Amino acid sequence: MQGVPILSVDRLRVEFPTRRGTLVAVHDASFEIARGEVLGVVGESGAGKSVTGAAVIGLIDPPGRIAGGEVRLDGVRIDNLPNERMRKVRGREIGAVFQDPLTSLNPLYTIGRQIVETIRTHLPMGEADARRRAVALLEEVGIPAADRRIDHYPHQFSGGMRQRVVIALALAAKPKLIIADEPTTALDVSIQAQIIQLLKRLCRDHATAVMLVTHDMGVIAETADRVAVMYAGRIVEIGPVADVIHRPRHPYTVGLMGSIPSIGATVERLTQIDGTMPRLDAVPAGCAYHPRCPHAFDRCRRERPELVPAGRTSAACWLADVTAGVPA
Ligand SMILES: Nc1ncnc2c1ncn2[C@@H]1O[C@H](COP(=O)(O)OP(=O)(O)O)[C@@H](O)[C@H]1O
Ligand code: SF4
Ligand SMILES: [Mg+2]
Repeated sequence: MQGVPILSVDRLRVEFPTRRGTLVAVHDASFEIARGEVLGVVGESGAGKSVTGAAVIGLIDPPGRIAGGEVRLDGVRIDNLPNERMRKVRGREIGAVFQDPLTSLNPLYTIGRQIVETIRTHLPMGEADARRRAVALLEEVGIPAADRRIDHYPHQFSGGMRQRVVIALALAAKPKLIIADEPTTALDVSIQAQIIQLLKRLCRDHATAVMLVTHDMGVIAETADRVAVMYAGRIVEIGPVADVIHRPRHPYTVGLMGSIPSIGATVERLTQIDGTMPRLDAVPAGCAYHPRCPHAFDRCRRERPELVPAGRTSAACWLADVTAGVPA
């Protein structure tokens, strides 16, 4: 395709020591993101999505740790870099957009000062040029009167405008990859779509790859090129968005699809998957989904299925390679 992927994650394992033993939050997660591609990572709360994103940008707080696997950015390993080096990779090569814009913005400084500082930390630019670039970025993300607003403080912006500022900040040093973790979850429903469209357009224009973490399959359907579905710390299905949505191979993906009103034409009302995802310290044997799965059979309770190619996606289900799309 396009040579070396921008991001390549190979058998990533993330552990947190707890009083009751080691909790494995991410098991053997492998995926790639190509230049300019949007990979959606979806799954219920607690599935390990944010931990996966945090591991990629080196933000797992000790005593949590990456206990196995490799993360490569543009072919270069970054999971074992010293903190100082990783700090430079963050910001310069990987930008981040989190749920709450205020985690990325310092309330004590004008937004202009923060963007200019980020630009000058990472790019060889003088103050005046960096400020011009900051204004241009703010215009690009849709801040009206950017040349005046640049001198305002974060609290002088609405939630949606603030998230636009964070996106400008994330793009400031021309990163190769942006990790966006639930970037619209804290925003008014009426502006969520605008922010998602903005993120998508900017990344296309700049050929920036995106790892978009969300619990919302509807957001994925609108935005992603490919999708990774996580359940209980593992990727259970991964493939092109159209295939995952229209011909899901994993019963859990089928269940998630039932929660988007507009997509499954046959689904009139929101259907919820019965039961809840297990806590990561109490994952059942065999296939972790078996207590909730309408198709579970004996083998599912004993043996855990690995991801196998199934149509154009890959799915970790004993039925995936024998069915042409599991029945809903
Ligand atoms: N700092 C932490 N310490 C201990 N366990 C953690 C920590 N962060 C996350 N976990 C565990 O990892 C699981 C997955 O978390 P997370 O990736 O945030 O889920 P989500 O898919 O909702 O983003 C949590 O349910 C929790 O069990
Ligand atoms: S392996 Fe079995 S329990 Fe797991 S998703 Fe497939 S059919 Fe359901
Ligand atoms: Mg999360």
